[in-house]
Amino acid sequence: MSVPLLDVNAQNLPLEAELQAAFSKVLHSGRFIMGPEIEVFERDVAAMVDAKHGISVSSGTDALLLALMALNIGPGDEVICPAFTFFATAGAVSRLGAIPVFADICPVCFNLDLADTRRKITSKTKAIIPVHLFGQSADMDPLLALAKEHGLFIIEDAAQAIGSRYKGRACGSMGEFGCYSFFPSKNLGGFGDGGMVVTNDDDLAERAKVLRVHGSKPKYYHHHIGANFRMDTLQAALLQVKLSHYATYTQQRQANANAYTQALSAIDGIVQADPAHCKCAATQSAALAAQNARIVLPVAYAHNSHIWNQYTLRVLGEGQRDSLRDHLVKNSIGCEIYYPLTLDQQPCFADLPASSRTGCEVAHQMAHEVISLPIYGEMTDAQRNEVIAAIQSWLSA
Ligand SMILES: Cc1ncc(COP(=O)(O)O)c(C=O)c1O
Repeated sequence: MSVPLLDVNAQNLPLEAELQAAFSKVLHSGRFIMGPEIEVFERDVAAMVDAKHGISVSSGTDALLLALMALNIGPGDEVICPAFTFFATAGAVSRLGAIPVFADICPVCFNLDLADTRRKITSKTKAIIPVHLFGQSADMDPLLALAKEHGLFIIEDAAQAIGSRYKGRACGSMGEFGCYSFFPSKNLGGFGDGGMVVTNDDDLAERAKVLRVHGSKPKYYHHHIGANFRMDTLQAALLQVKLSHYATYTQQRQANANAYTQALSAIDGIVQADPAHCKCAATQSAALAAQNARIVLPVAYAHNSHIWNQYTLRVLGEGQRDSLRDHLVKNSIGCEIYYPLTLDQQPCFADLPASSRTGCEVAHQMAHEVISLPIYGEMTDAQRNEVIAAIQSWLSA
């Protein structure tokens, strides 16, 4: 049996009648740009993530760009972000002429390492972008305190973490801005590109709204230089249909993650990551060696509610991850490497100052070890068992 990494039809097609009704409504209204569905969707997403304002945009990438623009980040400014994330986190910074400065990550939760983030702050630092990678929150309290101590903005890259929580607080509404993506592979997956920024600050919300429409207010009067960052009315109408099912999608992913962890941790050579090792990669390596671990399972910290955009294993030992990937592919099991090359190592950033690209060793190690398994909510028990069996057969080969 083949198991795809993701099957968007399994989630979307059961909603066909609802989606067609939403499409028809917009079609007949003729209001394809900033129609009333936009405001409804913004209001409901903002309410779900405890934010005062939601500003829908054309993609998660543009959400980041818009948030940075609204905070006046530009040439000469430095913005700290993790070395291990999707390109857009740093790409948005560079596009504004600012300098992304890469910080190392934690080998347990894959999120920003606080000590390294602190080391990377200079007099030019303006903001930090924590990424809630794979659907689990970064450790926000110390990060927010660090930002406050140095007068820095926090832009949360919550592209993979809409609805995820940290100590009960929603990912995305803890900093100045939170940025979401509705790319089809995200937990709230749309029908093309889409994104949203949220904020609790009235002035920042107003700036973002104006910048979203070329900086014009009133129409055709431009006090600022913005761009076209609007979400289509159709996209908002269709996403609204899925938003009403979102709690179920999250529960299904959480159930899959729990089932994986329960079954896989019972297999010899597989251990679950220990949150106690969050701040010390060396202690963790020693513990994993003592347990003869070959595969490390992801863990949700007790203070987080993880939404499992990805279920990401670490496969220890030179070449072992690629060997497992080849085995899974041969057995028709979908898998993906998020991410094979860290951002500090990307050729497009080679001209950045060396000081912005140092000390990301844990991130480099993760790029060689990680592999993500199918975790989408609609996968069947039989499919999940097939994935588990394939991993088991690789271990015993
Ligand atoms: C962490 C992260 N940031 C930003 C983005 C960009 O979102 P989009 O693809 O909607 O532009 C993504 C999406 O892949 C992401 O995973």
